[in-house]
Amino acid sequence: MKNIIVFALLGIGSQVYAQTNPKLQARLEQQAKDLEGRVIEWRRHIHQHPELSNREVNTAAYITAHLKTLGLKIQTGVAKTGVVALLETGKPGPVIALRADIDALPVTERNSLPFASQERTVFNGQETGVMHACGHDSHVAILMGVAEILSKNKADLRGTIKFIFQPAEEGAPAGEEGGADLMVREGVLENPKVDVIFGLHIQSISPLGRITYRPAGIMAASDWFSIKVKGRQSHGSAPWMGIDPIVVSAQIINGLQTIISRQSELTKEAAVITVGRLQAGIRENIIPEEAFMAGTIRTLDEGMQQKIHDKIRLTATKIAESAGATAEVNIEKKTPVTFNDPALTEKMVASLQKAAGAENVIRINAVTGAEDFAFYQKKVPGFFFFVGAMPPDQDPNKVPAHHTPDFMVDERGFLTGLKAMLNVTTDYMFMK
Ligand code: NI
Repeated sequence: MKNIIVFALLGIGSQVYAQTNPKLQARLEQQAKDLEGRVIEWRRHIHQHPELSNREVNTAAYITAHLKTLGLKIQTGVAKTGVVALLETGKPGPVIALRADIDALPVTERNSLPFASQERTVFNGQETGVMHACGHDSHVAILMGVAEILSKNKADLRGTIKFIFQPAEEGAPAGEEGGADLMVREGVLENPKVDVIFGLHIQSISPLGRITYRPAGIMAASDWFSIKVKGRQSHGSAPWMGIDPIVVSAQIINGLQTIISRQSELTKEAAVITVGRLQAGIRENIIPEEAFMAGTIRTLDEGMQQKIHDKIRLTATKIAESAGATAEVNIEKKTPVTFNDPALTEKMVASLQKAAGAENVIRINAVTGAEDFAFYQKKVPGFFFFVGAMPPDQDPNKVPAHHTPDFMVDERGFLTGLKAMLNVTTDYMFMK
């Protein structure tokens, strides 16, 4: 194993970490460039044939057919439609998991691309188009490419690589389970036991060639809450005859906002409470018996998350009590914080810099959207980063956002993603 490990002077601060042998590194990079065209072809095929969460049957078959040509050990039907493949080098080393999400969204594509989606379906009782409007098609194609290149270079690698093609990142249909949470419960991080996991997300609003990351919370925990306020019904002309749940609800909504503005340590991490639903009453002159509100909570730190949940319960019930009403609070934890292990993140930044150039690897503020990659990171150290795919002449404030009908990515961003995934994998492999 001569020449496998060198200690490059790419370390951050005073710390220097092992890196992939430069010869192997150069070969992988060349192979990534050579494969770029095929990665784009795969992505276009997947883009043209999108499937909704937990329905990714043909997508899974397409992935499996490719992985079979690489001689990998393949498992299908994981967490419904997921595909997991193992590359065993036969040499001791870490087990590294690489994850791509594979599902599309109920969005009708408005792009005039030759490979635009024409698919249609019925979702939640409504006719809709189906579209890869979050770029998961790119994630699939990039990981197919990474699997091909690493397989080709198996003789020079060590440890085991587990490729995880995960369904239902956008959330399983009503009444179904799915996504990363189900994959973890079905044991995707076991047999062999995964030491570390890497994932990326393409971004239509971040410039081409740029990689962005954040240590610790990069994307927020997303929890849902609902509050049922019960008062006493009365005539609208005589509120003193009853207990007005609408006025109590108004006080609760204001109270919830002071949990963020007055009671949360905002210099530590940001947090958001949004009331997105509010329902009460039937007629102008009737004070109803009940009012209902529901919303979402976004946090980036588990300690703050717990405190905010406790304070929501306290604030709602005590405000209601002060008026003689009651408040029934329900909080449902949905997705945890996408938490980049700080030590791991520090080690891997140099790998991203090799892929994109040091000047193009930028530490960003947290994103208050959520990502179910978080479920893997609850179990093993993980690193999740963003790869820019906005054409160079565009304005990030004007380009179509993710989940919209005009969403599109510049395919030249895939090569950066491909190189970044290869680098984090082989650098980690030889660090251990
Ligand atoms: Ni997404």
